[in-house]
Amino acid sequence: MTTLGSLFFSSLLLIFSVFYPDSSRTPNVHSHEGQSTHISEDSLKLINQRYDEAWMQWRSSLFDLDIHQDMIIGEVGAGNGELAFLLAKRVGPDGHVYANEIDLSKLEIIQERIVSERIENLTPVLGQQNDALFPSSKLDLVILVEVYHHLENPGIFFKNLTQYLSDNGKVVIIDPDLNQPGGDPEGCYSDPTKTRAVFEKAGYEIQQVDYRNVLDLKFYILHASWNK
Ligand SMILES: C[S@@+](CC[C@H](N)C(=O)[O-])C[C@H]1O[C@@H](n2cnc3c(N)ncnc32)[C@H](O)[C@@H]1O
Repeated sequence: MTTLGSLFFSSLLLIFSVFYPDSSRTPNVHSHEGQSTHISEDSLKLINQRYDEAWMQWRSSLFDLDIHQDMIIGEVGAGNGELAFLLAKRVGPDGHVYANEIDLSKLEIIQERIVSERIENLTPVLGQQNDALFPSSKLDLVILVEVYHHLENPGIFFKNLTQYLSDNGKVVIIDPDLNQPGGDPEGCYSDPTKTRAVFEKAGYEIQQVDYRNVLDLKFYILHASWNK
């Protein structure tokens, strides 16, 4: 493989590792051509290291958000809950975090950690595809990290979400920007212009859209607010 070829392949692996963290720890990756590619232990170590670095960047970028003590936050598509636990620490004992998922097995992982670490201000929530089903109508902030592109009916989802938001409640979307090299409408990307239109149609006010690079990927961060 040429240096350029191997650089390209490494980039693909890194991109893969950001989107599929669990899979990145598996030594076999299926390429787009459907061939199975063996990854050496050293490459795996590098991928995991870069993935952890990316996560650190996510943490700091998320904490640029105005997250403070006493807030009530909902996270949609919380995965294994890494961010939700950080948020729970941030909002303190008088705040609360609801970690929503449609995948029950992920909520079980979150629940086990809640019990083992005796966390009292974090609640797992089983949602439906078009409705987060948060058990509160006073959420100050709802966050979705790498989840927007999974939503089957974002217009319906965000219209339903309004019932859980407090007056002037905020929604923050962080998703890979479709408008970048390799951006694929069928892949793990979404178009910030379309996302913006979805929110406006559902009655939200767009506050700002920022862009940030994490490793080789460009993400957009859309801030919207809901006024009853
Ligand atoms: C790429 S993962 C991101 C997980 C986590 N936010 C993170 O950044 O590590 C996408 C997650 O969204 C969840 N998901 C997909 N559609 C959803 C929906 N309609 N409501 C709630 N969660 C959803 C999936 O089960 C999956 O755990």
